[in-house]
Amino acid sequence: MAAWWESAAIYQVYPRSFQDSNGDGIGDLPGITSRLDHLVDLGVDGLWLSPIYPSPLADFGYDVADYTAVDPVYGTLADFDRLMSEAHARNLRVLMDLVPCHTSIEHPWFSEHPDWYIWAEGKNGAPPNNWRSTFGGSAWSRDPAGGPRWYMHSFYPEQPDLDWRKPEVVAAMGEVVRFWLDRGVAGFRIDAIDRLIKDDELRDDPPASVPFELPLPEEYAELEHLYSHNRPEIRAALAGLREAAGDALLVGEVYLPAAEVTPYLDSLDSAFAFELFHAPWEAEALETAIGAELDLPGTPAWALSNHDFPRLPNRYGELAVGGAAVLACTLPGLTFIYQGDEIGMANGPGADPPYDRAGRDPYRHPMQWDATANGGFTAGTPWLAVVDPAERNVEDQRNDPHSLLSLYRELLALRGELRGTPRPLSAEPGVVAFERGAHTVVVNTSGEPRTGPGGQRLRPGQAFVSGPGGTIGV
Ligand code: NOJ
Ligand code: CA
Repeated sequence: MAAWWESAAIYQVYPRSFQDSNGDGIGDLPGITSRLDHLVDLGVDGLWLSPIYPSPLADFGYDVADYTAVDPVYGTLADFDRLMSEAHARNLRVLMDLVPCHTSIEHPWFSEHPDWYIWAEGKNGAPPNNWRSTFGGSAWSRDPAGGPRWYMHSFYPEQPDLDWRKPEVVAAMGEVVRFWLDRGVAGFRIDAIDRLIKDDELRDDPPASVPFELPLPEEYAELEHLYSHNRPEIRAALAGLREAAGDALLVGEVYLPAAEVTPYLDSLDSAFAFELFHAPWEAEALETAIGAELDLPGTPAWALSNHDFPRLPNRYGELAVGGAAVLACTLPGLTFIYQGDEIGMANGPGADPPYDRAGRDPYRHPMQWDATANGGFTAGTPWLAVVDPAERNVEDQRNDPHSLLSLYRELLALRGELRGTPRPLSAEPGVVAFERGAHTVVVNTSGEPRTGPGGQRLRPGQAFVSGPGGTIGV
């Protein structure tokens, strides 16, 4: 029998910005529960909750200070249980965000079990080696307790990396996994999993000779992360996670081009298709990325947007948002939709001074539910300004059969009927075209009229799926 998730659509909730229930301007669990009917209306099969754990917010929840609790700003474990039962009553599955590679520096493990982390001696006052942190600077910082050694952090200094060669770490994270499974979650999106293990000899990373295939921060991209990332030993470490998770869904954030993802799929069910995520909105590049992904074992996890990168209208242009919906919803496998994409939310201005030091505030503005001043997100002052609720919001689009929201809803309703692997169809350059069983998908990625695979004239940006039941598209 096919697993429930094999063609599931999952909605990414960024809890801080989804729905505030108590007027403090910050989204929370009761707020999410109160909006579950939107997910039902949209037609998704489940939701992925970005981190809700207690966190000092150096990396907005990806610096976890307690893996088995809820940050009081989001509510309580009882609120979580209520969210679970309300989700299940609506046939929605819930995925948690598991952050196994690093903790917050304020996690008690860091002081109680320092040996669970990666430490090394410096070299004449300099860090142990040349490894870089993703967000800039050395990947090593001095012991805050004044000891002689340095600890390693793949991301911010407030996020020390756990040492996955230690069986205690594997066991502790296994308990975390079981804690949430016991509360009814259906699986996990696993953060930064390509960083799980580092070279045990701490060899220097060489300078990058060719550009990495996916976008990276400039300074980080100067090195080829041969020893600090994507080590072959990760394969064995992942088996420990799988053992704890049983047959729950595990989707990895493996930030690598498709061809390098295969080893991860020994233990993971699926990994995000970052090659497609970052492909330019041009038919040929999109087709290449889709093909590379379809060649992998396991189930693809398509996503075109998330809380880390500019929103769709900013990356692809307004003309392309309908085509992005068609593509995201008609490919086989899992598909992830980031909150707000269904109404075409664009980047906002962020905050001054910024909350996120890596500049990602603009992609995290509050969800726009209605046309009121705060978009229905909060009765208080939103933690991050609301962008343009009068121009785009759920309420208006729900009532408009030609809206982007209605398009997503129709596409998701059709999704379960689509069968088979995409078979490319030839069309004019600039047009993505493939067949899935009795359905044909056509996306004109260009800003010009084009001819489709059946000889039909396509408007700039026109995109649709057609089959026995008719045509859905823009
Ligand atoms: C990926 C998450 O999506 C991102 O928000 C975070 O900063 C890094 N992993 C580090 O946890
Ligand atoms: Ca709140």
